[in-house]
Amino acid sequence: MNSLSPFTRGWASFVPFIVLLFYCFTPVLTVKHENFKTCDQSGFCKRNRAYADTAEASSNWDSPYNLDPATISLSNGQLTGTVVKTISRTGDSVRLPLTVTFLESGTARVTIDEEKRQKGDIVLRHGSKARKERYNEAERWTITGGLTPNKGAALSSDIQHGATKVHFGPEGKFEAIITHAPFSLDFRRDGTSHILFNSRGLMNVEHWRTKQEAPPEGESSAAEADPAVPPEDESTWWDESFGGNTDSKPRGPESVGLDITFSGYEHVYGIPEHASSMSLKQTRGGDGNYKEPYRMYNSDVFEYELDSPMTLYGAIPFMQAHRKDSTVGVFWLNAAETWVDIVKSRPAVNPLALGVKSTTTTQTHWFSESGLLDVFVFLGPSPQKVVQAYSELTGYSQLPQSFAIGYHQCRWNYVSDEDVMDVARKFDKHNIPFDVLWLDIEYTHEKKYFTFDPMTFPNPQKMTSHLDKHDRKLVAIIDPHIKNVDSYPVVDDLKKKQLAVNNKDGNIYEGWCWPGSSHWVDCFNPAAISWWKGLFKYDKFVGSSPNTFIWNDMNEPSVFNGPETTMPKDNLHHGNWEHRDVHNINGLTFHNATYEALLERKKGEVRRPFVLTRAFSAGSQRVGPMWTGDNQAHWGHLAASIPMTLNNGISGYPFAGADVGGFFGNPSKELLTRWYQAGAFYPFFRAHAHIDTRRREPYVAGSPYTEIMAQALRLRYSLLPAWYTAFREASVAGTPIVRPNFFVHPSDENGFAIDDQLYLGSTGLLAKPVVTEGAESVDIYLGDDETYYDYFDYAIYSGKGYKTVPAPLEKIPLLMQGGHIIPRRDRPRRSSGLMKFDPITLVVVLGKSGDAEGSLYLDDGETFDYQQGAHIHRTFRYEASTGLLTSEDISDRGSKTASYLKSMSHVRVERIVVVGAPSDWKNKESVIISEEGEKESGSRQRSELQFHSGQGGKAAWAVVKDPGLYITKGWKVDFS
Ligand code: GLC
Repeated sequence: MNSLSPFTRGWASFVPFIVLLFYCFTPVLTVKHENFKTCDQSGFCKRNRAYADTAEASSNWDSPYNLDPATISLSNGQLTGTVVKTISRTGDSVRLPLTVTFLESGTARVTIDEEKRQKGDIVLRHGSKARKERYNEAERWTITGGLTPNKGAALSSDIQHGATKVHFGPEGKFEAIITHAPFSLDFRRDGTSHILFNSRGLMNVEHWRTKQEAPPEGESSAAEADPAVPPEDESTWWDESFGGNTDSKPRGPESVGLDITFSGYEHVYGIPEHASSMSLKQTRGGDGNYKEPYRMYNSDVFEYELDSPMTLYGAIPFMQAHRKDSTVGVFWLNAAETWVDIVKSRPAVNPLALGVKSTTTTQTHWFSESGLLDVFVFLGPSPQKVVQAYSELTGYSQLPQSFAIGYHQCRWNYVSDEDVMDVARKFDKHNIPFDVLWLDIEYTHEKKYFTFDPMTFPNPQKMTSHLDKHDRKLVAIIDPHIKNVDSYPVVDDLKKKQLAVNNKDGNIYEGWCWPGSSHWVDCFNPAAISWWKGLFKYDKFVGSSPNTFIWNDMNEPSVFNGPETTMPKDNLHHGNWEHRDVHNINGLTFHNATYEALLERKKGEVRRPFVLTRAFSAGSQRVGPMWTGDNQAHWGHLAASIPMTLNNGISGYPFAGADVGGFFGNPSKELLTRWYQAGAFYPFFRAHAHIDTRRREPYVAGSPYTEIMAQALRLRYSLLPAWYTAFREASVAGTPIVRPNFFVHPSDENGFAIDDQLYLGSTGLLAKPVVTEGAESVDIYLGDDETYYDYFDYAIYSGKGYKTVPAPLEKIPLLMQGGHIIPRRDRPRRSSGLMKFDPITLVVVLGKSGDAEGSLYLDDGETFDYQQGAHIHRTFRYEASTGLLTSEDISDRGSKTASYLKSMSHVRVERIVVVGAPSDWKNKESVIISEEGEKESGSRQRSELQFHSGQGGKAAWAVVKDPGLYITKGWKVDFS
């Protein structure tokens, strides 16, 4: 007898289905919102938003900040003056020193400080030892150049009453108009306003004040206050509590806020890191908009959510605004917690004014908890100019060792040295290339960094030499928390030498992380950096080898029992700066210390360090790559990785990628395969997985998935010369390594928000990774009228707009834009190191005009010798009018050029493929080759040309096999 009720029986029949569903789909995990503040829970955020609301609601809002004209002076490219803030309730005034510096690059910098705090003329509450000044050292960690003032900056003679006008920038084409009362700034290019400061009157510098204790009952306070002005809401000024932790705020309220308006600009990008679209959304509610501002407060956000302005692990307060043919930007130099509100407005247009288009203006509102108000302004006019000007200040992306752009195999954890060697052997068995194997925290002896677990990793040297046989590397994790335990020399030393972060009372700070009770090395302290450097010497980090590199994680810093999973804001760093002041650059200082350590592991062994970081800020690009942290094995996370990587790239930090496969959860085989195809287009290409997940190295999935993943990896490896050339470009010009549509086609308005496809460097390669389940095709957007060709079968696509491109599982949607020459290395090898002397294939992709151009950069991929000319840098050009393909030297020569070129002299160009070959080449049997130095009339060689006609919408192509050319030489190939 069936004892179940009909209702239950009905349910019972669904059970197997539900179980099946459970196993088929990994649910998306969501962040615990209660662990992180909303704007309303962050005192200064709430205050600044409320200030904006009051200003906007009032019909006659007057910003209380005036620049005193008597204080203004301009000399040597710098304008100085004093902004006076009037407190309406008391009539008191606060003096705020202003500088506006005009830099040689055309960048302008505005700083506002607080006189009383500059002079140390304030009293801290709770007997705090913290510094009295506003934090003014962010520059020290972040800025590395570009600060030379433009001495040509000059006051304009056409001075309007109540304003000061300065001409600056290239040919004096930029202007800054400084209105005195209320104080505001208007940055113009070619006579048009582009960026406005305080035009909405939201500037807010919360000045220091003493806490007025409540007067005894019956007595009134502040007798001098104007009774017509309501008292301010002080509820968030003093000690602030969240999640069981109280921030003592010894200086009270001290935020800085400013409205920055991009006049006539509809799109703003940047301010990573958020799991959001590249074109930033509005944040004040409404359909499809966020309700919270974008937040920047480096945090270890467990199971982060998508499509959200919530903060993540890194913060780059650099924003660009773009419209047709114009890009401008701002960089907000501040290391404290920062939020940005974005609102777009489109003024109404008279419906009778035919043809007049209304332009959207983007209004942003920035506020930071403490520190100086310090903002750089970039007037473009192109996306490249803006990112370059920003990079000139904060440094260019590091040119990494060549292995770093190969494939990295990571998981938490490879459990023993035998396991590592076994994984390497399996890759070889399946002919799958990789460059680096990674060790997560379990390799250590009881989570004590700089040790290997003697039980599971008894022979690390054997492991590293096994990897070294195929020129492979090991990366080991080292985090900033140092286990607080007896008999651990590292922590003993840290305590004895007082190199750790202190709590608000000036005693060593203790918190919880992976090892349990821990202390944190304070890399703001130069003595801590020197000490840290010593720990990486081969005889100190026993078991590490020259092919061991480092992964810095948890450096936000992540503190499991701290407020918002980080340190209390009133902790003290070196120089008695509060953690509040420096939080967002904490990760950079640690990353940087490790970088410096790797430079000095052994005397005389100078190679480019490799250090991955999770926390980052402006400037981290100089040090090493970042990744997007703990994502999930979910299609949505795969999709989100593309805009995140692109956004990092345009924000000056292009060496970026996401955990391939997704960190949490087990990806389906299809998702994993698609993720490898996408990962092949991340500048940083690493697979990683959580300790609770099943093994998923590409050889595990089996046929056909393993082969398809292997193909994606081979594609990455064959394009390494193109990738390396893009890295080189980034390292000298700040150019993104993977580029969004707006960057490549700045005039194409329909493509400004496109963030799901990417161009690789300047190669014209356009990839659109599949990020949905069961896809058979994708729609790729073409931003121009060039001819595009499918990378694999030369199918032709042309005409602006979306094109449907087949994308069965085995295919990565990848097109080649006509007009480029792409360098490749086509021989399959086990690692990139083994490809060093492999011959080059040149793919000449003819554009509409019949011409094509490209470049190749190569060096030893390891040392800094390239800075002394040890590199090859060539431009290849094909001209339809002459039929000539040429190789031209564009390298910088130096003392090491000759020996490097000698070492590469046998590297050949083994094949030239011409895609879109003209039909009249059909009857051509050969081309004429001439090398540099040969007499034009002398014995020139002929090389065979094979022509293949294009069929069924595919382009014709031609091949010159083994033309007998060398990559170090100049040469010509005559196709005429
Ligand atoms: C953090 C990292 C993750 C790592 C884990 C253990 O969650 O983001 O990549 O595997 O710590 O070290």
